[in-house]
Amino acid sequence: MNQYPGKNLPEYIKPEGKWANTFSYHPFDVELREAKGIYLYDTEGNQYIDASGGPMAVNIGHNDERMKRAIHEQLDKFNFVHPILANGPKAELCNKLASIAPGTLNASYLVSGGSEAVDTAMKLVRQSQLARGHKDKHKIISNHESYHGMTIATLSVSGSAGSQGPFEPMLQRYPQINQYSDYKKPEGMTREEWGTISAQELEHAIHYAGPKTVAAYLATPHGAGCDYAVVPPTSYWQRIREICDHYDVLLVADEVVTGFGRTGKWFAMEHFGVQADIMTTAKGMSGMYAPLGAVTVSDEVNEPFKKDAYFIHGFTGGGHPVAVAAGIATIDVLREDKLVENAANMEAVLFSHKQQLLSHPTIKDIRGWGLFMVGELVKNKDTMEFFDQNQQAELLFQQLALKHGLVMYGSLYGARRQPAFRRGLPFWISPPLCITEEQIHDMMGRLDETLTEWEQTLGL
Ligand SMILES: Cc1ncc(COP(=O)(O)O)c(C=O)c1O
Repeated sequence: MNQYPGKNLPEYIKPEGKWANTFSYHPFDVELREAKGIYLYDTEGNQYIDASGGPMAVNIGHNDERMKRAIHEQLDKFNFVHPILANGPKAELCNKLASIAPGTLNASYLVSGGSEAVDTAMKLVRQSQLARGHKDKHKIISNHESYHGMTIATLSVSGSAGSQGPFEPMLQRYPQINQYSDYKKPEGMTREEWGTISAQELEHAIHYAGPKTVAAYLATPHGAGCDYAVVPPTSYWQRIREICDHYDVLLVADEVVTGFGRTGKWFAMEHFGVQADIMTTAKGMSGMYAPLGAVTVSDEVNEPFKKDAYFIHGFTGGGHPVAVAAGIATIDVLREDKLVENAANMEAVLFSHKQQLLSHPTIKDIRGWGLFMVGELVKNKDTMEFFDQNQQAELLFQQLALKHGLVMYGSLYGARRQPAFRRGLPFWISPPLCITEEQIHDMMGRLDETLTEWEQTLGL
């Protein structure tokens, strides 16, 4: 049995004993021993379902023999290539990426994670605009409430001004716009109509920033922050694409979370029939068997770099052969086991639990796509009142989830939730894409038990 009684709030674990020299903390004293498929096992013998796939990153199952073999085989050949030499595995992965990426997104620059991918894309945007003769284009418009990474540059295009804590004075701030939100849709208007109207925010922002200075618009295919996983209507993305084309603004789709099958297609922008000029990926790209990310650019963006433009960039670990081997094997496993199709087929099974979840007094909304569900937790659905800070509701939620056999990725927004928004605390259900129908019902049963005990403990 799990050691958490479910009544007393957990204390944050202090870095003591063997953790004394770790700089960052872990809030729960559960140490992993092994993992297989969708399951995680701790050193006490407890079994958990990896309900959020780590932080929405474990797209293929844990401990897959094919993955281990591929990584091992690469290590048997060579573990690193000097950057002045040709990196064969890198070429193989880039070719595979071209075969699955939408439309003309064909050339990839490999990095080691999502933040590196977005940071790299930001530099690529600037050099690309310079190469096209637009010397003043340098501003990158992004969305309020978005999240694109933890480096100084990616924090600059994330979140709202003032929400980046101590780093705020260090950031280069560009204009930001509101993302698409169903919550703001006027009554009587269709989602498609509201999508077109919402997209106009981008045109306004370009106008006020100065069209000559705007290099790119960077966004995730679905909502972030309070609106996490709100899926915009097709009209929204189509209008955004038109606006970008009109003002020579590059469209950068951050598919770090949504890429590699999570939403039931290889890449989420395919749902809208809209192709970005630049796409960033990471997380599910290697199923987290190794740190890996990519920036994939269209043939048009790549054109000057094939001739005389030189991309001023480079990381020692970029295109690391062992990570690349994991990336190649991930695509093979996704194809072989038809996991993208499974994510599409399992959507109905996962969302068949929607009404049951909404019957809980604390669940305001259930939304998402593919094998990606987000629930919005509030104390009171009618008033949208939120839990007192001292109740540590999100920590308790995760603690009880562990007790009921779920490892859930907790919201980062709860504790910092801005009162102005009157919105809830998102939780994420994004298991490995190999999950079966039976396992989904088991997972959702565990979630139901977690919610019931959570509500009882909070006295709701
Ligand atoms: C949309 C998006 N972009 C970028 C990142 C940063 O990725 P990483 O944590 O691999 O640096 C994340 C991480 O959650 C993300 O959700």
